[in-house]
Amino acid sequence: GAHSSIIVSARLLDLHVVVVASDETGRLTATALARTLAELEADDRLQQVVAVVAVAGSTNAGLIDDLAGVGQLARRHDIWFHVDAAYGGAFLCVPSVRATFAGIELADSLIIDPHKGLFVPYDCCALLYANPGPVTAAFTQDASYLEQINQSQQCNPMHYAFHLSRRARGVPLWFSLAVYGSGAYRHTLEQILDLSARLRTRIACHPRLTLIPACGLSVILFRREGWQARDYDDWAQRCLRDGIALVVPSSWQGETVMRLCIMNTRLDEQRCEALLADL
Ligand SMILES: Cc1ncc(COP(=O)(O)O)c(C=O)c1O
Repeated sequence: GAHSSIIVSARLLDLHVVVVASDETGRLTATALARTLAELEADDRLQQVVAVVAVAGSTNAGLIDDLAGVGQLARRHDIWFHVDAAYGGAFLCVPSVRATFAGIELADSLIIDPHKGLFVPYDCCALLYANPGPVTAAFTQDASYLEQINQSQQCNPMHYAFHLSRRARGVPLWFSLAVYGSGAYRHTLEQILDLSARLRTRIACHPRLTLIPACGLSVILFRREGWQARDYDDWAQRCLRDGIALVVPSSWQGETVMRLCIMNTRLDEQRCEALLADL
C-alpha cells in the first residue's frame, strides 16, 4: 500500500526497496515485517536496512498499517521508522478513529499533507521529525554565504530538507486554524467519515454494486456488476464532464474497481444519491 513516491525517492537515493507482503486486508503487519527482516538477516543484508516505511491511510484503500507493531520492530532493530500519513494524517483529530493510528508516535519521521485532509491550497506538506538533531546534520549545507545562518541558533527550515528557498507554505494552514479553530476541522472530518460510512452501507446494500470491505477512512472501493475496465473509465469521464465528481477507477487485488475518496462535505447525501443513481 505504500505510495509510489517512496519507490522513486529510494531510487533517487540509490537505495533498493524491499516490498513486505501485506496481510489479506492489504496492511503491513509486524509479523510480515519480521519475516522479511529474518530473510534479509539470513542473506546477511539486515545491516543494510536503513528505513521502514509504513502508511497511515493508503492512497488506494485508506488502510492504516500496524503502526505500533511495525514501529516497535523497527525500533528494536534500530531502523529509522517513517510514517506516510499524507492523506490519513488529517483524521488523527477525529476521536472515533484515533485509536487506529496507535503507534504513530513511534515514527522518526512523519508526513501529513494539509492540502489533502486539512483543506488548504496546494502545495503544503508537513514533514515532522521526532528528533531533528541528526536531520540537521544531514541537511545543513556548507557555503560561505550560508555560514551566518548555519551558526545561528534560530530554527530554519532549510536545515530539515535539501531545498533552501521556499514559500511559507504553512501559513495558509496556520491562518485557517487560527480563524476556524481545530474544532471546526474535527467536526468537518467527522462529517466526512460519517458520509463515507453511510455511502459504504448504501453500496453494500445495492443489488448491482459490491463493496470491497477492506477500504477505510474516506476511501470507498467497489465493483459494479458486469462492468469492464472500459466501463469504469467511461463513467469516471462522464462524472467529470458533467461536473458530478472527480472519480478515478483503480484496482484491488488485480481487478479493476471504482474508487471514491470523499474529502468534501459538500458531497452531501443528495449528490451521493445522484452518483449511485447514475451508476
Ligand atoms: C499516502 C500518500 N503519500 C504520498 C502522496 C503524494 O502526495 P502529493 O501528491 O502531495 O505529492 C499521496 C498522494 O495521494 C498519498 O496518498
